[in-house]
Amino acid sequence: MPQMRLDEAKLNDFLGRAIQDVAATFHAGLVLIGDRLGLYRAMAGAGGLTPAELAKRTGTHHRYVREWLSAQAAGGYVTYDPATGRFTLPPEQAFLLLDADLPGAFMLGVGSVADESKIAEAFRTGGGVGWHEHDSGVFEGCERFFRPAYAMHLISEWIPSLDGVQARLEAGGRVADVGCGHGASTIIMAQAFPRSRFLGFDYHAESIEWARRAAEKAGVADRVSFEIAPASEFPGTDYDLVTFFDCLHDMGDPVGAARHVRQALAPRGSWMLVEPMAKDRLEENLNPIGRLYYGASTLLCTPASLSQEVGLALGAQAGETNLRNVLTDAGFRNIRRVAETPANMVLEARI
Ligand SMILES: C[S@@+](CC[C@H](N)C(=O)[O-])C[C@H]1O[C@@H](n2cnc3c(N)ncnc32)[C@H](O)[C@@H]1O
Repeated sequence: MPQMRLDEAKLNDFLGRAIQDVAATFHAGLVLIGDRLGLYRAMAGAGGLTPAELAKRTGTHHRYVREWLSAQAAGGYVTYDPATGRFTLPPEQAFLLLDADLPGAFMLGVGSVADESKIAEAFRTGGGVGWHEHDSGVFEGCERFFRPAYAMHLISEWIPSLDGVQARLEAGGRVADVGCGHGASTIIMAQAFPRSRFLGFDYHAESIEWARRAAEKAGVADRVSFEIAPASEFPGTDYDLVTFFDCLHDMGDPVGAARHVRQALAPRGSWMLVEPMAKDRLEENLNPIGRLYYGASTLLCTPASLSQEVGLALGAQAGETNLRNVLTDAGFRNIRRVAETPANMVLEARI
């Protein structure tokens, strides 16, 4: 390396950030352990616990639990009282870790990182890595990562923001949820609109099997069915609503998928497209949400798209202009942004 003058303050600043990232990489494994063994759940509302008390409540070994709790305290996930030697899970952390299922996001990240060598090889060849080729933690982690936002916004905000869709679903409409994965969004809609009929489609057979079991468990299998189908060929016409949740950018041929949606919609039907939130320009996305999505896009979404025909590789941070271009190329003229959250943007496209 050529000799360069280093700015010590900048060096230390970057080192500090990198140490946090390395620590967070280890921490991800600890979050999964806390989730798997019920450590967070046992701490919720329990007040201060010693490692031995938490170990007893969870049937685990106290020495491991002490080390785990120490790391949690260093990371601000729990608090530590040196006077009593007890650790507490604050209510805000309990809410995010348990009610908002934050460990699901870690599961998605850990599962994606596990496939790093496959992705590195794809960098060399330019080939793709299909969604179905990933570690199974990716599928479950993906469902858990997205579900809380769907549970919070889909029925109360996103569907009411569409043109006349809520009334049609209340009366009894037909919905296709394409790229449905484990079917979280499909099942949430089916629970809210018992008179409507929901069909979930995904090209990934394992996800469709999972979704079928989930629909049975949720007691909505009478009005929901799941079938293996690619987005460019899913069956049926006259849908009142077609939905794509966080999947259009994963597809090799999003324009082909959009054309297929056009011919599948009823004349007054709506296509609801939920995509990761992003501004149009890279420099506007250099923030924590952008970092998360560009990372996921490098390891998951871009290789998924490159593994399919056309391989447009929109990327998870495609931005609204690129998304609108896909929809107009497919012949949609009536497109509007109807809702957004810090993590998602929601577009409605009509014929
Ligand atoms: C990021 S996941 C989102 C899953 C689900 N919609 C959710 O929000 O939890 C992307 C999904 O798109 C599916 N997918 C990718 N390409 C597809 C295609 N061409 N046709 C149908 N599904 C596809 C994948 O199998 C995967 O389930």
